[in-house]
Amino acid sequence: MGKLHIEDIKEFVDKGYDTFIETGTGPGAITIHNIKDSFKEIHSIELSETIFNSNKNLLKNENKIKLYLGDSAILLKDIVKENKSKKCIIWLDAHFSGGLTKKSEKFGECPIIEEIKILNIFETPPIIFIDDAAYFLNPPPAKNHKQEDWPTFELVKNEIIKIDKNYKTENVRQDIYLFKY
Ligand SMILES: C[S@@+](CC[C@H](N)C(=O)[O-])C[C@H]1O[C@@H](n2cnc3c(N)ncnc32)[C@H](O)[C@@H]1O
Repeated sequence: MGKLHIEDIKEFVDKGYDTFIETGTGPGAITIHNIKDSFKEIHSIELSETIFNSNKNLLKNENKIKLYLGDSAILLKDIVKENKSKKCIIWLDAHFSGGLTKKSEKFGECPIIEEIKILNIFETPPIIFIDDAAYFLNPPPAKNHKQEDWPTFELVKNEIIKIDKNYKTENVRQDIYLFKY
């Protein structure tokens, strides 16, 4: 489970990408804490009510951060519509990973393909970071996971290329991959 840091996004912030959209806020909203000072607006969706409530409390004084409770494969659509004219960085990190984390009844343990399908209406194609790519190269252990819920890296890549054929991918570090153009 990787986290984004300021140095991962600086190049794009310098080019005017001022809105950050995250799927899977996660316990402690760690990426939000790492990058919040670089953005005008942050939107983040979390399926677990317990994690959402705890983050709501942690971030209660941060007016530019909007937290949403629900399924990213559903809620992302309206967030993208509202922000389609902005230059956005997207951090796709919603998935089940044990403990307090949740899985979608409708979209399973990892809704990344449904999420990517929503990203094709931006006026400027977004910069996309994905986490846990190791699980797209080799699915997580069958003991704790439903392996068929995890798409292959090839499927993820092909879905992103449908947004814009100029996307190129690079491994940032650990399991984090970046799609830029
Ligand atoms: C790895 S954590 C996120 C870590 C966080 N993005 C960070 O960088 O600090 C994954 C989170 O996704 C949430 N999740 C799982 N399925 C989801 C879905 N369909 N919609 C929204 N959140 C989901 C889990 O409950 C979990 O809290």
